[in-house]
Amino acid sequence: MSKYKIAWLPGDGVGNDVMDAAKIILDKVGLDAEYIHGDVGWEFWKREGNPLPERTIKIFKETDCCLFGAITSKPKDEAEKELSPEMKDKGFVYSSPIVGLRQLLNLHTNMRPCKAFEGNPLNHRDDIDLVVFRENTEGLYAGVEFHPVPSEIFNALMIHKKMKKFKNVSLNDLAISTRIFTRRGCQNIIRRAFEYAKKHKRKSVTVVEKPNVIRETSGMMIREARKIAKEYSEIELWETNVDAMCMWLVKNPQDYDVLVASNMFGDIISDLAAQLVGGLGFAASGNIGDNYAVFEPTHGSAPKYAGQYRVNPIAMIQSVKLMLDWLGEKEDANKIDNAIATVIKEGKVKTYDLGGNNTSLQVAEEIAKKI
Ligand code: IPM
Ligand code: MG
Repeated sequence: MSKYKIAWLPGDGVGNDVMDAAKIILDKVGLDAEYIHGDVGWEFWKREGNPLPERTIKIFKETDCCLFGAITSKPKDEAEKELSPEMKDKGFVYSSPIVGLRQLLNLHTNMRPCKAFEGNPLNHRDDIDLVVFRENTEGLYAGVEFHPVPSEIFNALMIHKKMKKFKNVSLNDLAISTRIFTRRGCQNIIRRAFEYAKKHKRKSVTVVEKPNVIRETSGMMIREARKIAKEYSEIELWETNVDAMCMWLVKNPQDYDVLVASNMFGDIISDLAAQLVGGLGFAASGNIGDNYAVFEPTHGSAPKYAGQYRVNPIAMIQSVKLMLDWLGEKEDANKIDNAIATVIKEGKVKTYDLGGNNTSLQVAEEIAKKI
């Protein structure tokens, strides 16, 4: 029997291309693992009305963790149009399988490192090394939304005096998306950020919210951050509003160590931070729960490049590195990190985003060679 069982979910579009690249790396380090393929994504939405079929959910129960490629996500109405004819008008409603999976498996912590590799021509600066901790199951992503708004909800909200200005709007002309935080969710993500900072000797944790306007939810996050920060006297707590954070990240990204934010704000700043170190081709993420984790590149499925092996596989290979770290295979994880650094520094084998014309697989082979 192998030491690990890993769920293997390439998903849509270039998800397949980059997962093939990942396999080259895993074979090279010789991880003692069995890979179990799972269906997920657009194809299954169109055919079965469910992008995350039950049979795939079963695989999570039998595996230690999951590697995930990429998926296509579209708004509800557009998704509905693409259902195969026999699946139409049966009440299927599309929702993103990766968002669903984070909730289903309670993967409460999303960790997204953004480190500039020396010699990457796309770097904003070479001294950027920050990590975003994004709360991963609550807030605007909890999925508690209404349209049309049921009258019970409307009436219940009327106890709030600020609702008065909506009192004459018809229920069909109102849409509500809630932003629900729990104290536990706030404490968890803040704690994770501080523990990471402590372990990696980082000097600051910056909590990115907007408590001056979103007083209750962002306010709770900030208050919990202040309490928890007291337990980590060697680490400074910085507080920044999300809009200002975008400006500071463009201006002085090298000043930041660990950023922590709620779900939506974390989503936004992590794309911004990724672009500072070369874009989504360099952005990996770990969706981490208490006993299970899903590792994926932050990029989407780029359907127009599907099957062309054109996209940069480094984000995927860094996701493999994060997975190995999480599994406790630190030595292999470090080897991969160093090999990526060497290949980027040499700048000989590279995909189109870096001005090269090598394939995803050639880049992976080159990284494997340096391991
Ligand atoms: C991400 C992505 C997802 C998200 C999409 C694909 C639903 O943007 O992982 O950052 O919004 O979380
Ligand atoms: Mg995103």
